[in-house]
Amino acid sequence: MSDLSEKPSHDSALKDSYNRRIDYLRISITDKCNLQCVYCVSAAGLKYFRNSEIMTDEEIVRLVRIAHKHGLRKVRITGGEPLLRKSIVDLVSSIKKIGISDLSLTTNGIMLAGLAGALKEAGLDRVNISLDTMKAERYREITKKGDIARVLEAIKEAERVGLSPVKINIVPIRGINDDEILSFASLTFEKDYHIRFIEFMPVTSDGMWRREKCVSAKEILETISGLGELESFKFRGEGPSRNYRLQGAVGVIGIISPISDHFCNSCNRLRLTSNGKIRPCLFSKIEVDIKAPMRNGADDDEIERLFLYTVSIKPERHKLDENITASDHIKNMSKIGG
Ligand code: GTP
Ligand code: 5AD
Repeated sequence: MSDLSEKPSHDSALKDSYNRRIDYLRISITDKCNLQCVYCVSAAGLKYFRNSEIMTDEEIVRLVRIAHKHGLRKVRITGGEPLLRKSIVDLVSSIKKIGISDLSLTTNGIMLAGLAGALKEAGLDRVNISLDTMKAERYREITKKGDIARVLEAIKEAERVGLSPVKINIVPIRGINDDEILSFASLTFEKDYHIRFIEFMPVTSDGMWRREKCVSAKEILETISGLGELESFKFRGEGPSRNYRLQGAVGVIGIISPISDHFCNSCNRLRLTSNGKIRPCLFSKIEVDIKAPMRNGADDDEIERLFLYTVSIKPERHKLDENITASDHIKNMSKIGG
């Protein structure tokens, strides 16, 4: 029997116009979320797509199948909150069966504890869990309504069923949770988690983002170095994260710095929005509609052509550092999935 999860041969590797290998698709399967994190959702941005606008499981799986022929190797399921989608376990199973070798999911963890085992069995390899504080009251303030106990339970359960490495995403925001950088980093002495600090990005329209509120990668690293020597672990492996390990620690510290040091040169990804648009860059307005052609009867050759076209127009880089308002069109990260 052939190994469906083997890496694509060199010949099937898909390159964009800047010779970057494109083998990662982030799929947002819903724009709804059960939390309203202050840095993600803008107050004005809470208008959801109608159900009929959302890509069906069959449409998503069809696109993944076509992209896999061109070397797609890594798929991340995002939202909104992806676990709100009722068919999530079946969807994971269908995507894995295509032969995706790295299938992961980014979640806020609220609903994960009860689903972790089934997801693992369906073929999910690992999870990234968003957690911006370890304090219950502060968690409620940041997320508007979340119960941190459920997330902490989910982290343990993910670890127990082997959805590893368990990655935890923290967005430090000055004056809100930047005093917890050390406690998060210290977790890596006990647990083999990947603790990833993400620079606060300007994605909401209601003035929440200011440069002074963004804690830079440099500052984060300086703070963490108070805990001991940081050795470079695997410098920018497969994703945007620069990885380090504190001496004596078992876990990994990751730094994601879209603001102070963009990682466009090594960008290997496309995004599929929940309403069926392929986006070649998070911070560009370019989108290619894949759902309308599918619903109008396009055959696989036509969908393949659109997919390859999207790869060919992937911009060289985003311009966030030159023009911070470039992201004005992203009113709400949960529409695109981060
Ligand atoms: P792995 O490293 O493979 O586990 O995944 P990842 O880091 O790509 O996924 P995750 O969903 O955990 O993303 C972490 C953070 O990186 C999120 O805040 C994303 O918005 C951000 N991010 C991911 N891809 C991009 C990108 O292409 N551009 C920018 N600017 N930010 C990105
Ligand atoms: N800046 C940085 N990261 C963000 N995320 C959502 N909004 C922002 C923002 N404004 C992150 C979440 C989640 C990931 C998918 O995107 O913390 O972990």
